[in-house]
Amino acid sequence: MNVAVVLVAAGNGERLGAGIPKALVTVAGKSLLVHALEAIQKFNPTQLVVVVHEDHVEEFQSQIRAVYHGEFAIAVGGTSRQGSVANGLALVKAELVLIHDAARAFASPALFEAVAAELSNSDVVVPVIPVSDTVKRVSGNDVLGTEDRNTLRLSQTPQGFRTKELQRALSEAPSDFTDDAALMQAMGFSVRSVPGEVNAFKLTTNSDLDRARQDFGQRATGIGTDAHKFSESGQLVLGCLVWPELPKLEGHSDGDSIAHAIVDALLSAAGLGDIGSNFGVDRPEFAGASGEIFISETLKMIAAKGFSVENVAVQVIADKPKIGPRRDELEARLSAIVEARVSVGATTTDGLGFLADSRGVAAVATALLKVLG
Ligand code: CTP
Ligand code: MG
Repeated sequence: MNVAVVLVAAGNGERLGAGIPKALVTVAGKSLLVHALEAIQKFNPTQLVVVVHEDHVEEFQSQIRAVYHGEFAIAVGGTSRQGSVANGLALVKAELVLIHDAARAFASPALFEAVAAELSNSDVVVPVIPVSDTVKRVSGNDVLGTEDRNTLRLSQTPQGFRTKELQRALSEAPSDFTDDAALMQAMGFSVRSVPGEVNAFKLTTNSDLDRARQDFGQRATGIGTDAHKFSESGQLVLGCLVWPELPKLEGHSDGDSIAHAIVDALLSAAGLGDIGSNFGVDRPEFAGASGEIFISETLKMIAAKGFSVENVAVQVIADKPKIGPRRDELEARLSAIVEARVSVGATTTDGLGFLADSRGVAAVATALLKVLG
C-alpha cells in the first residue's frame, strides 16, 4: 500500500511544562519521539515525514537517524498543530497518508495497519475509544444536561486520509481544528471509525507522563543469595530484626543473611555488581554495619541509576529461627526499609547439608526494579 506517515512532534508541551519539547521527554529512557518512531518503523510506511520543533532540529534529526532505518524527511512546525500538519503534508508524495501525534507515543503498529486498511472503505479514518465516564454538558459551573455516552467516542491518532484531499482541505481551512478528521468533516467528507487503543492515549499533563512511566517503564529482575554461620555468642539480627533466643551470625558485617541477599538482588537487578564488589573488606566503614545501612546505601545507588524498587521476595533456608510466627513483623520491617513490598518465605533442607543442624542461615532474594524517566 502506498501510504506515508506524518508524525507531528513540533509542539512545545506547555501543559507538561518539562522545559523541552514534549516529544523529547523520556519514558523508560527513550523519548516519546523514539517510542512513536519504533511503532512506525514496524508499520513500515512508504514515506515518513517528521514535523519537528524549530529550535531543536538537530536533536530531532539525530534521534530519528538513530532508530529509523528508512528514508525520512523533516519539516519544521507551525504555530498550531494544524499548521504543523500542513507543513509536513507539503512533503508527502504517497497517495494515502496517516497523520500521527508524537504525543500518542504508545499507539501500536497494529493501529497504523487498521487505520490504513480502512482507507479502502472511506476517505477519512479515525481510531476511537468508548467513553466510560458519564459526560455532562456545562456552562461555567451550571450543569445543563447529561450526554448519552453510548453515542460518544474519544478520538485518537493515527488518522488516515487521501493526501490530495487533506492538502486541499488544509489550504482552504476556515479555522484551526484540534484534529484533522474534524477539519475533513467540516469540509463535507464522511468519516469512518476503527477501534482505537487504550495505550494510544495522549500525553498532555504530568499525570499522563506518570501513567506512561508506570505502564511502560522497563523492568529488571535480580537475584541474590547469602549464608552465614552462627557464632557462639551475641544476639541474632536477621531481616533487620533482633531474635533474642539465638546467637549472632558471623560476618564482615552483622551477618544478616536476609538483608545481604536483598542487597545482592537489588544490585544485580541494577547491574551494579554484588555486595562484595561494593561493600567489601576494602571499605572498612562498613565493617560491622547493620543490614539496614547496607540496604539504604544500595537504594541510593540504584536510585542514582534511575531505578525504583517494585518488589522484593525472600526465601530463608534454615532450621532456626522459625520464620512463620514473625513473618508479618519481618515483612513490615523490611518493606519499610526497602520502601516497597517485601515478602518473606522459609524452608528447611530436609536434613541435608550445613543448614540442617542449625549451624547457619541462608537466604535467597529476588528483586524487581523499574526504570523511571
Ligand atoms: N504539535 C505540533 N505543532 C504544534 C503544536 C502541536 O506538531 N504547533 C504536535 C505535538 O508535538 C503533539 C501533537 O501535535 O505531538 C498534539 O498536540 P499537543 O498534545 O497539544 O502537544 P503540545 O502542543 O506540544 O502541548 P501543549 O498544548 O501542552 O503545549
Ligand atoms: Mg497543543
